[in-house]
Order: sequence, then structure tokens, then C-alpha cells
Amino acid sequence: IKTIGILTSGGDAPGMNAAIRAVTRSAIFSGFKVKGIYRGYKGLLTNEIVDFKTQNVSNIIQMGGTILKTARCQEFKSPEGRQLAYDTLRQHEIDALVVIGGDGSLSGARAFATEFNFPCIGLPGTIDNDLYGTDETIGYDTALNTIMECVDKIRDTATSHERLFFIEVMGRDAGFLALNGAIASGAEAAIIPEISTEVDQLAELIQNGFRKSKNSSIVLVAESPVTGGAMALAERVNKEYPEYDVRVSILGHLQRGGSPTARDRILASRLGSAAIDALLDDQRNVMIGISNDEIVYVPFSKAIKKDKPINRSLLDTLRRLSI
Ligand code: F6P
Repeated sequence: IKTIGILTSGGDAPGMNAAIRAVTRSAIFSGFKVKGIYRGYKGLLTNEIVDFKTQNVSNIIQMGGTILKTARCQEFKSPEGRQLAYDTLRQHEIDALVVIGGDGSLSGARAFATEFNFPCIGLPGTIDNDLYGTDETIGYDTALNTIMECVDKIRDTATSHERLFFIEVMGRDAGFLALNGAIASGAEAAIIPEISTEVDQLAELIQNGFRKSKNSSIVLVAESPVTGGAMALAERVNKEYPEYDVRVSILGHLQRGGSPTARDRILASRLGSAAIDALLDDQRNVMIGISNDEIVYVPFSKAIKKDKPINRSLLDTLRRLSI
């Protein structure tokens, strides 16, 4: 391997820039050439590739988003698209690829690596934290902190008006942001796709709170077809319990922005650096993860299995603390 290509793909996440910096600098440190591929896999089809030197990644560790831009690329899902991508890589003499992204992006890397026997290393970059084999993904901690800050603000209104708030957070099909966001912000409950909660159970919990000392309640709801989202849930609760003054707030894309936290910057720097070690180590087609503070190599097939377990003891903590 002489030249490493790097791209970010799928939804942007805070810390992706820190990862781009780490991969680029570690690669150059180890004697590789680096090429930056713009707009994810799309850049491989439209030939948007430039040489990356250490200066290309100066001053970016603190920036949210991704300087390489990102995209969700439909064409790369077809064998013809991947063939075109392979031809572009050969044309640029790129012999290995580092892909920073979430589930969809690593699924693409897996298909590509298998078809062309091309060395691909994945870095988990998504606010959703839904990749198996890594304790955390790049961007998750920043998003969690953003959620906490937003809920703190909404709490002012909830308390002043004695309202019941349903706050919808991102996470695609996973409840990590909702559950940990609820604990961090002192919410009454978290509705997550991994665990079914009946409207009655929820109403009972809230009623208990109102009957005791609480004059307001906050429920975090994970976006997902399983939970139905905050709006639908609020409507159902409001229908059965019209006595509550219910409001809904959908946090949306603000959760993906902002300067990465120290934790995300450090994670991205460690994982990015480890991606180059993995290539030097002759590792192929693995995602670099972190487990118990140690770097681990997770085969793509495992990482994208969509069955990262939620820690159920966190639910218990939330329940106990919301009495
Ligand atoms: O995967 C990150 C994520 O923000 C999810 O939490 C969310 O469901 C999705 O991306 C939104 O995607 P888009 O920005 O394409 O609407």
C-alpha cells in the first residue's frame, strides 16, 4: 500500500474532521500518500479527489461537519456504480480506503471490499451510536451534550408553564441518544424502539409525578417507526388525558452540528490513528472500534448487524431517579 484514500459518507457527525485529520497525519507520518475524496462514495463516481498534505487538515479538529463533505450515494449501491468507483481508485493509484461513516456507509465499504478484494478500513462516524463492537461512535458524545443543553432550556418553559413536554431526538432505529439524553437531563422517561412502553404505563408514571410534587414532566422520544415519534405519542396521551398541557419539540438536525466535545475529538484521533496501524498490520475490511478503552478491530459483517444492545440497567436508573 502506497496511497490511502479517505472519505466521509452518510450523515455528518461532529468529530469527523478530527478523524480526517488523524487519518491523514498518521498516514503521512508512516510514509503513505493521502488523497481526500469529496462527497463520500459520490466523489468516486464524479472524480472529486485531491492530494492531501498535513496542511489540508490544519485547523479543523474543532470544526463540526466534515471538510470532505458527505452524501448518501444511491449509485454506489449497484455493482455498476461500484465498478466505476473501483476504476476511479485505480486511476488515482489509491490502494486502500478509509471510510468514516455509519451503518449504510460501512455496508457499502463491505460490499466494495468483498467484490474487488480492496483493503477498506471503517471508522464509526454517526451520532446514532448504533454500530456493534464499539462502545461509542464518533459524534455521539457531542450530540448527547447538545440534547442535554436543549432539554435544559425546554425545562425552563416546562416548569414555568407546568407542562408535559415530549421531546423527539434522533437515533434512526436506536435509542442510545434518547435513553442517555433522558438520564443526563433528568427527564421522567425515555421512549425507545428497543423496549416497548404502553401509553398507559407512561401516563401512570407521569400522573404519579404530577400527584406528588412535580408540576412538569419531560419525556424523551426516540425517532423511529417503532415509537411512532413524539408527535403521535403526544396526541395519544393528550386524547386520553386532556387535563395535561402537552407540547412537542422535535430537536432535528441541530443535534448533528457543533464543535465536537473533547471526548469525541480524542475518540476520533485515536480511531483515526489506529486505522493506519490496522493497514500496517495487514488488517482488511474491519471497523476500528473502542471497547473498554482499548482499540478493537470489528469485521464489517459484525459492525453493521444492527443489534448493538442497549444497556438495560440504564432504564432502571432512569426509572428510579424519576420518582
Ligand atoms: O444517522 C444520523 C441521522 O441523523 C439519524 O439520526 C437520522 O435518522 C438521519 O441521520 C437523518 O438523515 P438526513 O439528514 O438525511 O435527513
